[in-house]
Amino acid sequence: MDRVKGKAAIVTGGANGIGEATARLLAREGAAVAIVDIDDENGRKVATDIRKAGGVADFWHLDISKEDEVRRVFAEVYEKYGRLHILVNNAAIPGYRKPAHETTSEEWDRIMNVNLKGAFYCTKYAAPYMIRSGGGSIVNVASVYGLIGCDTPVYDTSKGALRAMTKSDALMYAKHNIRVNSVHPGNIITPLFRKLVEKIGGGLENTIKLLSTMCPMERMGNPEEIAYGILFLASDEASYVTAAELVIDGGMYNAPPPKYPD
Ligand SMILES: NC(=O)c1ccc[n+]([C@@H]2O[C@H](COP(=O)([O-])OP(=O)(O)OC[C@H]3O[C@@H](n4cnc5c(N)ncnc54)[C@H](O)[C@@H]3O)[C@@H](O)[C@H]2O)c1
Repeated sequence: MDRVKGKAAIVTGGANGIGEATARLLAREGAAVAIVDIDDENGRKVATDIRKAGGVADFWHLDISKEDEVRRVFAEVYEKYGRLHILVNNAAIPGYRKPAHETTSEEWDRIMNVNLKGAFYCTKYAAPYMIRSGGGSIVNVASVYGLIGCDTPVYDTSKGALRAMTKSDALMYAKHNIRVNSVHPGNIITPLFRKLVEKIGGGLENTIKLLSTMCPMERMGNPEEIAYGILFLASDEASYVTAAELVIDGGMYNAPPPKYPD
């Protein structure tokens, strides 16, 4: 309890998956949480659940790829809470499983506009409020596939660029007492993952089994396991941690497939 007591946070994509787990955990640990998402139904439900459990949370509809919306909503959040210390840049969309010569520029823009430009807009409009609040912590949710390649090149590129943006923003904002770090989840069971399996086919159980074999811990992760990493970076426990990358993947990055024999 109370690991982020008194702080105000914005969690993008807080209506589902890792963002939802993060919003619930930050609220449980004492933060006032603004959930921003395009999924109004789930976003409202998460905020209501948090309030029923005694926490502070509100939902705002926000498409992070729209600069004017980000500017307006972040101003409303700051006006409501009177402070802003934590920004979790979590919202993202999955990529296309195809090589560059089959990818259109519209597909490239669609992914980049949310996964990278969206995080840029959110940082741009959160930073002045964080400075006014005396500093804070930005956590960029990238991916282990921003560190190694995968079969979704545009998505992987967006995450690699988010990692790079983290490093530069950490330098730019250190003097303002704002820390900037990235979290790199491995394969996590979330609505995004379920939707991908539905689209690609292969069955949920089979895919979970297959991805588990890529991981030394022989299982996929759950959203709470990522949320705890984000909580640490958001809290004052990480007061000397900036420009760091926290890989949370059951060891997958350290031991890429094929799985080594016992
Ligand atoms: N699930 C995984 O295996 C995995 C692995 C590595 C990294 N990640 C990253 O973790 C983060 C969360 O992923 P998840 O699996 O929980 O996804 P999810 O789809 O379950 O949740 C993402 C949320 O973002 C919201 N969103 C999408 N586009 C938006 C937009 N334009 N504006 C505002 N909100 C928007 C969605 O409505 C949804 O609520 C993403 O950045 C993702 O790339 C996930």
